[in-house]
Amino acid sequence: MESQRNSDSIKVVTIENVIEETPTVKTLVFSDELLAGVLPGQFAMVWIPGVNELPMSVMVRKEKGKAAFTVRKHGVSSTALHSLGIGDRIGVRGPYGNSFTIKEGRLLLVGGGTGLVPLVRLATFLKETDEVTILMGAKTKEEVFFEDYASDILKRSRHRIIVVTEDGSYGQAGLVTDVMGNLLKQNTYDAVYTCGPEKMMYKVIQMAIESKIYAEASIERMMKCGMGLCGSCCFGDVLACKDGTVFSGQYLLTNKEFGHTHRSKSGILENY
Ligand SMILES: Cc1cc2nc3c(=O)[nH]c(=O)nc-3n(C[C@H](O)[C@H](O)[C@H](O)COP(=O)(O)OP(=O)(O)OC[C@H]3O[C@@H](n4cnc5c(N)ncnc54)[C@H](O)[C@@H]3O)c2cc1C
Ligand code: FES
Repeated sequence: MESQRNSDSIKVVTIENVIEETPTVKTLVFSDELLAGVLPGQFAMVWIPGVNELPMSVMVRKEKGKAAFTVRKHGVSSTALHSLGIGDRIGVRGPYGNSFTIKEGRLLLVGGGTGLVPLVRLATFLKETDEVTILMGAKTKEEVFFEDYASDILKRSRHRIIVVTEDGSYGQAGLVTDVMGNLLKQNTYDAVYTCGPEKMMYKVIQMAIESKIYAEASIERMMKCGMGLCGSCCFGDVLACKDGTVFSGQYLLTNKEFGHTHRSKSGILENY
């Protein structure tokens, strides 16, 4: 029975729907009760038969019992996942990892690319009395996604979605961190949450902590087991898959790897 699936066992699921978000990003929808109910920040391991197993954040679906992955076409494995269609099968295990701490009040969510996946899920956990601002970063207009979806999720609370494109083809021009800097001059927030490219998160966390705002980021590292066994995701003195992926800003600024280095597939430290 579905409800008895152990989070560590692989379940083969069938892709039931595919949503083209942008020319390089697709959302693959499937049924799985455990993954349908994950906490914001938790992830799954996704087996792409014959190719690889990749960590993926779990995207929100409104339909009961449905879960999804929003995949950006990048290297060999993500391109293989991105190329799957309705009726194709993948293996899923999880959920794994911790989750964002839910705060109340004026909340600022800062995301880029598929880093928006856990932030959109976080939005479903927020209270109607919260005042929520989401900064969504993309390179160009055609790479913007989830704007309407996030707005719909937040329709009962005061919210503002600010899209920022690097080439200025849609929304505000520049980087999300520039826009965040301007917001911080005029407003204060009770918490800042971020997920996306690590250099962006580093700046977001630095700015939040300098402004004395509680902050958290969800970190990506090379993950092979996803459950604290293999050590491939080591991140300073912690494991991203088991101790994270969500860490507080206060902790992150003490971790010398954050924003500077990550490990390759063979474990070698590389600069960002
Ligand atoms: C917790 C977590 C959640 C993620 N959520 C998403 C998501 O929602 N959507 C999405 O598109 N991507 C997500 N990713 C990234 C994804 O797992 C892959 O890293 C990415 O798709 C690149 O894979 P690739 O095979 O195309 O890259 P490759 O060409 O094989 O490698 C390119 C680079 O990708 C990274 N990479 C490859 N394999 C892994 C691995 N097993 N674990 C971590 N990094 C790896 C490495 O930095 C590598 O150098 C997430 C990663 C983590 C750790
Ligand atoms: S991925 Fe194996 S310990 Fe984290």
